Amino acid sequence: MAEHNVTGQTIIVQELPFKDVPEKKDLLQEDHRSKQFADMDRVIRLYAGERGQLIRILQKAQEIFGYLPEEVQAYIAEKLEIPVSEVNGVVTFYSLFATEPKGKYTLSVCMGTACYVKGAQALMDALKEELKIDEGETTPDGVFTIKSTRCVGACGLAPILMANEDVYGKASPGEIKKIIQTCRKGESVDHKKH
Ligand code: FES
Repeated sequence: MAEHNVTGQTIIVQELPFKDVPEKKDLLQEDHRSKQFADMDRVIRLYAGERGQLIRILQKAQEIFGYLPEEVQAYIAEKLEIPVSEVNGVVTFYSLFATEPKGKYTLSVCMGTACYVKGAQALMDALKEELKIDEGETTPDGVFTIKSTRCVGACGLAPILMANEDVYGKASPGEIKKIIQTCRKGESVDHKKH
């Protein structure tokens, strides 16, 4: 509590407890979230009238939010006036949709037969060891997510590791460090890139 004398009067200023003052960071996050939902509304208005546009809307939602948490799935279902289970069914069926936040780089190890035979599991183990996370998880700094994938159609170059869209053929556990460092620097990788 603070007191100020103004023209002979005493004004008492009640200071708010610290916890009641929203932090700037929280306000910015709130603002960002509102903008994301406003963008989502525009997408829904654009496509909602057309039949069979749920996948398109979900793709756009993933671009806006980065992934499709339950809150977003429920929002879309409500706006489209369809059951949440229908939205969730599509999200879980297609591997392109993520229900957890993804890192800036998704490192995918192909676990198809050819890659598996050529050592995909060792690649996966090296990734997990280097990043200290498990398959399906994202590093605390939000840079990397690890996942396994089915055959990507480049079996002649097995084993295959992908960093987002970049494909590394005949990848070895010894190269993992270098690939990770290169991603961290945001550089294009020139070694074994096809
Ligand atoms: S099995 Fe990995 S690319 Fe085909």
